[in-house]
Amino acid sequence: MKSRKVTKAVFPVAGMGTRFLPATKSIPKEIMTLVDRPLIQYAIDEARAAGIKEFIFVTSRGKSALEDYFDHAPELENTLKRAGKNDLLEVLKTTNMDSGAIAYVRQNRAMGLGHAVWCARRLIGNEPFAVLLPDDVIAAEKPCLAQMVEAYEETGGNMVATMEVPPSKASAYGVLDIAEDMGAIVKAKGMVEKPKAEEAPSNLAVIGRYILSPKVMTNLNKMKQGAGGEIQLTDAIAEEVGEEGTGVYGYRFSGQRYDCGSKAGFLQATVAFGLSRPDLQDEFSSYLHDLIAQQKAAQ
Ligand code: UTP
Repeated sequence: MKSRKVTKAVFPVAGMGTRFLPATKSIPKEIMTLVDRPLIQYAIDEARAAGIKEFIFVTSRGKSALEDYFDHAPELENTLKRAGKNDLLEVLKTTNMDSGAIAYVRQNRAMGLGHAVWCARRLIGNEPFAVLLPDDVIAAEKPCLAQMVEAYEETGGNMVATMEVPPSKASAYGVLDIAEDMGAIVKAKGMVEKPKAEEAPSNLAVIGRYILSPKVMTNLNKMKQGAGGEIQLTDAIAEEVGEEGTGVYGYRFSGQRYDCGSKAGFLQATVAFGLSRPDLQDEFSSYLHDLIAQQKAAQ
């Protein structure tokens, strides 16, 4: 084993979520629900399943609904207890976090993902850590971060979740330049943020799950002092490729990723998660079926 255990995770949730205005004027994007669970709950569950014990949220103004969500709700719990609604009590329990397991740091200005991660530096210290972007929701038999932790135990260094995208979509992602392709794991020799289709070094795009060495925080530190504007996480990770660096690996996860930061992705996830719920499946699929039939008939 080359790596240290990963027990801390950073959840950057300080973005303005402008693609979901006007909703995000007063509701944090991460509180928006897929069926009946907010996006952040999916990310927390995935982190827990991967052995994360400390949860660090990088928040901003207007995100207090997120903090309230993870608090105990004694009045609600008592009401459910008195009514004998034990199933709902169990559901509520999944939202409770142990005292001290969750920490909030503030990003005062939305200066990019790299800057948001850097805001957690004092809580991370000199340890490897995970980063989960809650707007990337991943449906998988074995949760994505748990798959990555297993692979990371072999590689150490830094690991990013990747998926294959067509060249026309590369400009929406960070893209890996591949040194060695070992199947599920690929070793990177570079990373390019949002390349043009013809300049993309591969078809492997980075999505919102990372396991990072503390060295990446040091890199972000330098960028903080040097650069203006947005601070890119990709650049700080890319510094770790090659002989001198701690190493960067891409991981081709098994599962389906939904970009819930975009309207189309959020709607696709809503349909997919609705259809996968045993309590809704029959009613929902027959509704969709009828809807499509009606649309076809009207054409
Ligand atoms: P996005 O690029 O999706 O930005 O951020 P956004 O502000 O959330 O949404 P749009 O584009 O305006 O609709 C990706 C992740 O990085 C976080 C976001 O909260 C999201 O989880 N982020 C982004 C920060 O925490 N701080 C930033 O300065 C930027």
